[in-house]
Amino acid sequence: MTTPILSVEGLRCTIAGQQVVEDVTFDVPATGITAVLGRNGVGKTSTLRGILGLIHRRGRVTLGGERIDGMPTHRIVRRGVGYVPEDREVFAKLSVAENLALAERQRNPRREFVAELFPDLVARKDQPAGTLSGGQQQMVSVARALMNDNRLLLVDEPTKGLAPKIVSEVAAALAEASKTVPILLVEQNLEVVRRLATGAIVIGGGRVVHTGSAAAILDDEDLTRRLLGVHAETTAPHATEADA
Ligand SMILES: Nc1ncnc2c1ncn2[C@@H]1O[C@H](COP(=O)(O)OP(=O)(O)OP(=O)(O)O)[C@@H](O)[C@H]1O
Ligand SMILES: [Mg+2]
Repeated sequence: MTTPILSVEGLRCTIAGQQVVEDVTFDVPATGITAVLGRNGVGKTSTLRGILGLIHRRGRVTLGGERIDGMPTHRIVRRGVGYVPEDREVFAKLSVAENLALAERQRNPRREFVAELFPDLVARKDQPAGTLSGGQQQMVSVARALMNDNRLLLVDEPTKGLAPKIVSEVAAALAEASKTVPILLVEQNLEVVRRLATGAIVIGGGRVVHTGSAAAILDDEDLTRRLLGVHAETTAPHATEADA
């Protein structure tokens, strides 16, 4: 196996003195998409925020072999870690173009790459981001992270609350993006995980409870039910009939 782009060892995070991540250890390969799975509230978002130094954390985190766990967030971002947060966090009053321009960190931002990936955003460049649909706002959020030559993207539940057709579009954009940058992806939609992810990490109770190939985890019905509280097939349309 090649050297991982990110190594997390014994990550512990607290929010307002409350422990939200107990002891998380995993590696992210330098290519492809690695999924972070787990039930609601187990600490997936906090793990990403801990890696970025957005919440208080302890433990060892290395990016391309360099320790980043002692760095402030802005330095970690400058080292090449892009973040697409759970609630998109676009600037509602600013236009699409302004949102993207604010994200540009480098002299030659990847404007053409982003425009090719999101033609819809080019067409809507002057529209206030707050007036976009949820799916379009998600595209803006992903596009911002792709403006720079990042070494890793941390993407938190990009398909949450989106209509199935839009879920598919967001997934296609992430698949394309992952050809240029490795992605650590928190995702509850298991169909999306199956389509995108190579490896997967399952978090339970603030710890990593399983690591392996995404397909192997999703194919193991007992494991998905036990660790995720869902049947991998519940994402299929007729699953509830089978249960009835
Ligand atoms: N701002 C906060 N203040 C206090 N506790 C918090 C805060 N944010 C999160 N927590 C707690 O930390 C724990 C982990 O939350 P986190 O958001 O990391 O989980 P998650 O796996 O991302 O959940 P979800 O699937 O709902 O997105 C939860 O018990 C949550 O209640
Ligand atoms: Mg979350």
